[in-house]
Amino acid sequence: MSNPLRSRWRRGPTLLALVMLIALGAAAAWLALTARELDLPWRDVARAPWRAALLARGDNPAPVALRLPAAQPLSAMAGLGRELFYDRALSASGRLSCASCHDPVNGYNPPPGSAAVMFGGAQLRTPGLRPPPSLAYLYRQRPFSIGPDNEELEATLAAQLRGAVAPNARAAKLASNPAAAAANRVPQGGLFWDGRADSLQAQASGPLFNPAEMDAGSAQRVARILRDSKLAPQFVQLFGPRIFADADLAVGEAMFAIARYQFEAPSFHAFDSKYDAWLQGKAKLSPQEMRGYLAFTDPRRGNCAACHIAAPSADGLPPLFTDGQYEALGVPRNAAIAANRDPAFFDLGLCGPLRRDLRAQRRYCGMFLTPTLRNAARRPVFFHNGAYRDLRQVLEFYAWRDTRPQRIYPRDARGRVLRFDDLPAADRANVDRIDAPFGRASGAAPAIDARARRDIVAFLRTLDDGWRAPPR
Ligand code: HEC
Ligand code: HEC
Repeated sequence: MSNPLRSRWRRGPTLLALVMLIALGAAAAWLALTARELDLPWRDVARAPWRAALLARGDNPAPVALRLPAAQPLSAMAGLGRELFYDRALSASGRLSCASCHDPVNGYNPPPGSAAVMFGGAQLRTPGLRPPPSLAYLYRQRPFSIGPDNEELEATLAAQLRGAVAPNARAAKLASNPAAAAANRVPQGGLFWDGRADSLQAQASGPLFNPAEMDAGSAQRVARILRDSKLAPQFVQLFGPRIFADADLAVGEAMFAIARYQFEAPSFHAFDSKYDAWLQGKAKLSPQEMRGYLAFTDPRRGNCAACHIAAPSADGLPPLFTDGQYEALGVPRNAAIAANRDPAFFDLGLCGPLRRDLRAQRRYCGMFLTPTLRNAARRPVFFHNGAYRDLRQVLEFYAWRDTRPQRIYPRDARGRVLRFDDLPAADRANVDRIDAPFGRASGAAPAIDARARRDIVAFLRTLDDGWRAPPR
């Protein structure tokens, strides 16, 4: 005869085991689903399940208060700069203003649909050499230097080491290049793709007088036009009655005014993208955007954030998606650039032809400034030579440059793939072959698969300014 008490004893543990099994199963299922949703290894999810749960909901697990530039009314100087920014009268053609190539409704990128380079000069027939970069988010750009890694980055790194801010892949980049980090000889800062101008003011006279751009002729011509324009009273008011007597001075002040405008006007550093809202805990990323963010910042996959910094600085400055440094990526040659018809011509960035002071420094040949990725999804063309027209191609370049070079570069007559064909053979050693997503062998699996590439493109779109929260 069985003892009813005893059998109840036995049923208790079985039930407990069953409940535990179900809980375990549910946890495992949650792990697997979340890992799949975020496109992360399940171990990463298991290591920080709370963080993963927030990420899976689209939230920022560590929202921050961003230190944004203060919004204030434009000074009189910046107001004059705004007029000049849109003034076509200064150009030889009478048809170009700064805004023609740096379109304010397109993130200060070239207007939608633009070709790889813009045309300037009196007849708008002289082609440029490089696509216009965006003018937004230059307000923290430092002067060009070759020297120790800049303090802001070091502060961020130090904070990361203390665990005060989310890690980004920047530390990995420095670690992977111990020679450069030890010697601390990193080219950084400056304006233009090659850093040849140091300030917005010095920079503005470049396009004004560049024959392939506004082609304004002489300072005398510009000063005369300004003196006879409706802006003359503003000049006199700001700079005194004798301002037009010295043409160089008048042009210098005009450039200063344009620089002030770029510095003061909020539209040049709006920080109102969806990503900025997300950083502050005021927006949710979609599942695809979140996967893209994770692949972008993962040092083993996109590793994009090693150079295009995505984390705020330790003291809350919003990220600019550039580390302000120079790299040679070996982007393929673009036949659409007129100068490239000469097979002996190469745009070597830091060592010329437009920049002249570093020509003898061969180790910098082929290096270009890492551009911001804010509003990059709005750019009509990508990279210093406009080699690509859409972000899908850009992501394929990063994935395939080393793993499927035959899809990136052309072949010579004998069928050999011409790797790094936009650099002279002697300078190809400067190309970065260490930092992920690069550095994998030909034929190996790319660091970012097709899904990660699509996801990263979706993430990049969250960096466009002008995001508005959807109505609740
Ligand atoms: C015909 C097209 C064109 C016009 C007009 C033009 N630019 Fe540019 N701009 C460019 C190009 C091309 C570059 C990149 C040149 C290079 O890197 O060598 C550039 C670069 C710049 C940069 C550097 C941006 C960076 O990220 O480093 C600034 C600032 C700038 N332009 C301001 C101006 C201002 C101010 C005006 C009006 C006075 C102006 N531009 C007019 C084509 C133009
Ligand atoms: C080792 C540093 C480095 C890494 C890693 C890196 N980039 Fe870049 N990125 C650059 C540099 C430098 C350029 C400009 C190169 C040129 O024009 O020759 C650039 C250009 C770009 C551009 C073109 C922007 C424009 O204004 O034309 C995009 C888009 C971009 N990167 C996205 C990414 C993405 C996405 C990843 C990750 C998959 C990534 N980058 C990884 C350094 C890097």
